[in-house]
Amino acid sequence: MPSPNMEDYLERMYRLIRDKGFARAVDIAKALDIQPSSVTHMLQKLDEKGYVRYEKYRGVTLTETGRQIGRDMVQRHRDLSKFLRLLGVDDERIIFKDVEGIEHHLSPESMRRIRKLVSYAEENPNWWNIYITHS
Ligand code: FE2
Repeated sequence: MPSPNMEDYLERMYRLIRDKGFARAVDIAKALDIQPSSVTHMLQKLDEKGYVRYEKYRGVTLTETGRQIGRDMVQRHRDLSKFLRLLGVDDERIIFKDVEGIEHHLSPESMRRIRKLVSYAEENPNWWNIYITHS
């Protein structure tokens, strides 16, 4: 199991590769707001664990396992953001910060139930509006 910090790396790398086609250490550092030197160290660790393939001057790619975890994190991030917006949180900075804090700590079962609630609320806006207008 990757640590929360590793999941964050895989999430950012997945996004960078999806949006730009590649992920350089300097871009990962920027996305995570940390020093490029700590990125190098983490990339070596992720390589040892089989989540990425990293060669110092050639860049970094995700392995199939790393790609799956990255994609799962991006989906979790999106669905938890939706959930907080549904609850009425409307400051995107708060949503981002809170989601980054909780996304690594929910079991698949809790995630599944949150997703179920979000889709039910989307399919039944009247039902949800009754709650929102009383909260
Ligand atoms: Fe995230």
